[in-house]
Amino acid sequence: MREQWNTKLGFILAAIGSAVGLGNLWRFPYIAATNGGGAFIFPYLFAILTAGIPILILEYTLGKTYRSGAPGTFARINRKFEWLGWAQVLTSFIITVYYFAIVVWVLSYIAFSFGNKWGEDTGGFFYGFLGITDSMTSVGGIQTNMLVPFFAVWAIVGFVMYRGINKGIDIACKICLPILLLCTVIIVIRGITLPGAIDGLAYMFTPDWSAIAKPDVWVAAYGQVFFSLSIAFAIMISYSSYLPKKEDVVNTAFLTACTNHGFEIFAGIGIFSIIGYMAYAQGVGVEDVAAAGIGLAFVVFPTAISTLPALNTLFGILFFVSLFTAGITSLISIIQAVITGIQDKWEMSHTKATTVVLVPAFVISFLFITGAGLYFLDLADYIANNIGIVMCGVIEVILIGWFFKPEKLRKAANEYSNFSVGQWWTWCLKVVTVIVLGYTTVTNLITYFRDGYEGYPMWIGFIIIGFMVVGTIVLTAMKGRKSFYEKPDDAPGYDD
Ligand code: ALA
Repeated sequence: MREQWNTKLGFILAAIGSAVGLGNLWRFPYIAATNGGGAFIFPYLFAILTAGIPILILEYTLGKTYRSGAPGTFARINRKFEWLGWAQVLTSFIITVYYFAIVVWVLSYIAFSFGNKWGEDTGGFFYGFLGITDSMTSVGGIQTNMLVPFFAVWAIVGFVMYRGINKGIDIACKICLPILLLCTVIIVIRGITLPGAIDGLAYMFTPDWSAIAKPDVWVAAYGQVFFSLSIAFAIMISYSSYLPKKEDVVNTAFLTACTNHGFEIFAGIGIFSIIGYMAYAQGVGVEDVAAAGIGLAFVVFPTAISTLPALNTLFGILFFVSLFTAGITSLISIIQAVITGIQDKWEMSHTKATTVVLVPAFVISFLFITGAGLYFLDLADYIANNIGIVMCGVIEVILIGWFFKPEKLRKAANEYSNFSVGQWWTWCLKVVTVIVLGYTTVTNLITYFRDGYEGYPMWIGFIIIGFMVVGTIVLTAMKGRKSFYEKPDDAPGYDD
């Protein structure tokens, strides 16, 4: 018997837990600030309304209607579509291994928060902690200082995943999300009451209207929305496949998106207030201290925490605990997306499927705690986001929008929903998203194949891409159990 969420709340919290993740806390504020500030809100809202929410409704509907993970769902619509599910699952697998490493660092930084162990040179401390080598090809050894948090995070993840949907994921989200909210609220209140906060907020929100005309800004907005909402990499299809059929998915999609993006902006206010304060305390401009991604969380923010007038240890703990709780609930959703795909195709027991996924992930994750870990992480993140997710996203809307009548799915979405989605939904998927995402994908592919990324050896990037391509072909070609291909009687068929 396929497991089902015990309660609707369990599903909603898990979906929100998946969406609200590291991407919200470190990626959004910087992406917004560097892509037009306050003006970014327009492409961002446009991306949420035309792609984020419509695709979320689509994925919830797909999972709930076809009752299988991404590969099974696409196979049940048409066997020729199955490969897209595996491409999404493999993108999730790549994200799993590096996302995991960040959670390990975050756990270490909770410990370093006691007495602000990172000292004054936070950059030097961070790179020393990573034991960073000169280049990606000199891997260095495994960083033994990371082994304890490494095994600790694996133990937590293993425990949650083996316990399954209700006894594992549901409970984990019910524990983590309130903690996350509490920590973030305290950070925001402290942040906005600091001198200089206003400069940080001005940096994040002052509109640069010329940005709206730049295609790059739109590409960044779409990228942020996809990663942040956990769409197009198998997660939301997998989670919603455990929903009972009579579930309102339209409401839930709006709720998930509003909570996710609301939280993103709220947390951004706290983060940039504190960075504004730091710039004020150091007598420099905010633009001189803000940094992207990993640098923001592990270099800039620790400095900001040390600069605070009081309770520095406490604020360090609050910040890293919020990253940890946000990270764990997303990480488990990413892993579950892979487990569901495997479990469904071969009708495995949950325990067996979990082992099949966790063992290789465990082995590969060691790579990310070597001296070259940060480089691998950076490249894997770039490829997964800029090639994997956008490409899977555009293919998903093309296959559903053009080769399968989306109106059938609109009906399925509306069947048990309080308010119905209109035809705008179909047009957003069929036309708007295809155009913008198609443009994004093509641009990203050309950029990568022409320029590479950050000077990393191209062949390593090709190994990652090759792994995804070959993996997709092999997993699709392998024969699954008969039930995997059989759609539920009440689900719309390809030829109906
Ligand atoms: N949605 C998750 C995040 O934002 C993956 O980190």
